Amino acid sequence: MKRLLSNGRRRAVVATAASALVLAGAALVVPSLAQAATTLGAAAAQSGRYFGTAIAGGRLNDSTYSTIAGREFNMITAENEMKPDATEPNQNQFNFSAGDQIYNWATQRGLKVRGHTLAWHAQQPPWMERMSGSALRSAMINHINGVMAHYKGKLAAWDVVNEAFNEDGSRRQSNLQGTGNDWIEVAFRTARAADPSTKLCYNDYNIENWSYGKTQGVYRMIQDFKSRGVPIDCVGLQTHFTGGSSLPSNFQTTLSSFAALGVDVALTEVDVTNASTTQYAGLTQACLNVPRCIGITVWGVRDSDSWRSNENPLLFDGGGNKKAAYTSVLNALNAAGPGPTGTPTATPTTPPPSGGANRIVGSQSGRCIDVPNSSQTNGTRVQLYDCHGQTNQQWTYTASKQLTVYGGSRCLDANGSGNGAAVQIYSCNGGANQQWNVNSNGTISGVQSGRCLDVWGTGNGQQVQLYDCHGQANQQFRLVAN
Ligand code: G3I
Repeated sequence: MKRLLSNGRRRAVVATAASALVLAGAALVVPSLAQAATTLGAAAAQSGRYFGTAIAGGRLNDSTYSTIAGREFNMITAENEMKPDATEPNQNQFNFSAGDQIYNWATQRGLKVRGHTLAWHAQQPPWMERMSGSALRSAMINHINGVMAHYKGKLAAWDVVNEAFNEDGSRRQSNLQGTGNDWIEVAFRTARAADPSTKLCYNDYNIENWSYGKTQGVYRMIQDFKSRGVPIDCVGLQTHFTGGSSLPSNFQTTLSSFAALGVDVALTEVDVTNASTTQYAGLTQACLNVPRCIGITVWGVRDSDSWRSNENPLLFDGGGNKKAAYTSVLNALNAAGPGPTGTPTATPTTPPPSGGANRIVGSQSGRCIDVPNSSQTNGTRVQLYDCHGQTNQQWTYTASKQLTVYGGSRCLDANGSGNGAAVQIYSCNGGANQQWNVNSNGTISGVQSGRCLDVWGTGNGQQVQLYDCHGQANQQFRLVAN
């Protein structure tokens, strides 16, 4: 986009955006009541984060449960249904029915999904529990490949390895550890090759206290992986402040220290004994204070859904009522507004870049928006792909805000306006769902929906969708003249 602007025009746009940012910053430090979001997901989205929950498939036909879950959260983790015992009950016979039930429920509502988990000492199917040595190593690799192939391009992240450390920071003894100390990096390398589009996380509990042995053990492994190029994108801190644990005062230090290694961090299984409001607000604030803390997931909806229900550790009581802890989290999220990373104000560029053919390059991925297989079929979803500048990657921004491809015979078209709506090609018809604002903050937003082009991941084949605009890297696109 910038390359299409003259220097003078570029300065003007930057100045306009800068003054808009100043105004937005001043206005959003303490949002007015009218601005405050009323659900956890929407409140977290203001700073480009998500707020999720674990879902148990067996509870989805409880309407109180599914109503709260669908309303409040925008990231979903299957509590048990994507674990090895569920997905490969017999060796090399995969079963995705329970996992898919949750995946479909979530994505039909525009909610994203984290995968949990691929390699773990617990919840292995009996045949895997009995295995050891090279046979188990092969079975682990086969399991990762089988499950990730099924969900390829569909998940925001995978907990590739779960709970592999002892409390003192040494490796936990398990049949997987017995296959050799390199089993974790083999799992991550296998996972990257299986689905380059999803974020790969290491996930564990009792790694919230920076001075704790286990935290340091995991930290050293991530540091080692990053130094040797072992693919890893994120660390999940389960954040179970139940069963005798509580929020440590140095939690933010832990989050920022992991983040400084070059990984995202996320709170992946939060629950707190008796739902202490100070602990819930504190853990939320710690995440908000760390730019690479990308989201928070609570481990269940109502107290009665919790694996530790006797501690009443969640944000909704057994009747589905919001607890005080809910309000403390919502208020913290709302007070943060766009957060320390800021959400640049989206203002359409004036005049828009128009006329010639452009590549639309994702800033995070470096890949181009591409029509798969050069298809001209209406309804073909667009994806990210290595830039090559062929006609299926040549987009023209017209004076009527269309993004046309194939010389104008097809338009970029939103199939719906909600979060997760598919972005596809369709015969140009002048509809508002085919009009796009190319914004000064690098986002491209739909005129009809107000939502932004968004990708979860960076790999070839990653599909483009609409999502609430937050201006983070996965919503940044540049129009680059061919
Ligand atoms: O569904 C069966 C039921 O048919 C059977 O009669 C019953 C008999 O025990 O078991 C039921 O399955 C249980 C399942 O939860 C569903 O409720 C399993 O026994 C039970 O072991 C399983 O517990 C899960 C636990 O992981 C297993 O390790 C919890 O729901 C789940 O919340 C918990 O989640 C873990 C994360 O994956 C990793 N971090 C810790 C977290 C809490 O332990």
